[in-house]
Amino acid sequence: MFYPILRLFLFRMDPEKTHDLTLYWLKKLEASFLRPLISQPLIEDPVEVLGITFPNRIGLAAGLDKNGACIDAFAALGFGHIEIGTVTPRPQPGNPKPRLFRIPEAEGVINRFGFNNQGVDQLIENVKNSRFDGVLGINIGKNFDTPVEKAVDDYLICLEKVYPYASYITVNISSPNTQNLRALQFGEALEELLTAIKQKQSELSEQFQKYVPILVKIAPDLSQEEVQQLADAFIKHQVDGVIATNTTFSREPVKGLANSDEQGGLSGAPVFNKSTQVLKQLSHAAQGKFPIIGVGGIDSPQAAAEKLEAGASLVQVYSSLIYKGPRLIRAIAKGLKRE
Ligand SMILES: Cc1cc2nc3c(=O)[nH]c(=O)nc-3n(C[C@H](O)[C@H](O)[C@H](O)COP(=O)(O)O)c2cc1C
Repeated sequence: MFYPILRLFLFRMDPEKTHDLTLYWLKKLEASFLRPLISQPLIEDPVEVLGITFPNRIGLAAGLDKNGACIDAFAALGFGHIEIGTVTPRPQPGNPKPRLFRIPEAEGVINRFGFNNQGVDQLIENVKNSRFDGVLGINIGKNFDTPVEKAVDDYLICLEKVYPYASYITVNISSPNTQNLRALQFGEALEELLTAIKQKQSELSEQFQKYVPILVKIAPDLSQEEVQQLADAFIKHQVDGVIATNTTFSREPVKGLANSDEQGGLSGAPVFNKSTQVLKQLSHAAQGKFPIIGVGGIDSPQAAAEKLEAGASLVQVYSSLIYKGPRLIRAIAKGLKRE
């Protein structure tokens, strides 16, 4: 009831300002006596995936809380897991503004943020300062000015630093807004990255006496053959899980609408079909050898259920929160519990 009215006000502002203001107020309210205003009790529907017990199947997708500055506030909203990042070794400002656009007619979003973040050390400080003791994913990437041939070094720096603080770690090789990043999804580059990451995971699990699963986040813009090749590589290297998918380059579902020509990755309802198709293909190719987190265009309990039917064990949301508000979190958790 309340969000549609708030939305009228929020949608009058610049999208990135709205984003910053929302995070600011969520954090402020969570830390104050007004916490009950944003607090939504967690729906208990425990499920074991990746050797971790998730309290329910719905999580926050990466990119909304890039620095992990609002973990407690998102936890208060009833998410079963929270993924923060993408974080890079060094702080970086991201692409010039404007870089976030709404397509309200299609409930879509285009962003070309380009991994704006305060760097991995600040993210760790924020994690240490939060009270959250639930399932925390940390999503890692490379700095924009690290040549793609040296990308592995950046992932290893982040992996090593976040390892003690994460329930799972996501290796993001699918953002469309960092030049050549998606090249890491193919051939020699992928082999080299997965070998190095798994080697480092083995060393770190020994050092910290704890095994932190590593997931890879993939793009929706892949042919069936490419999905098969990725699945083969993930099985070969014993990647613990996959997140499918990131945003899309495609503009097919939003053709002709205002803002649809903006460069960047498209998310929200318009990416649902493409993303679910890739999820289905990946699930088939995985033959049950690794679990998949389904993300892309989930805006209802039904859409979330479709992701599970397509092969996902868990789901995440981002863009639909902008259009539907935080009530959606509990609605999805409830809907999936009933399934
Ligand atoms: C504004 C914005 C920023 C994002 N930033 C990241 C990011 O830093 N890292 C990442 O892995 N995914 C990022 N994503 C992708 C989302 O995590 C998600 O995979 C994608 O948006 C599809 O889900 P949705 O349709 O529910 O938004 C971002 C998405 C949006 C809309």
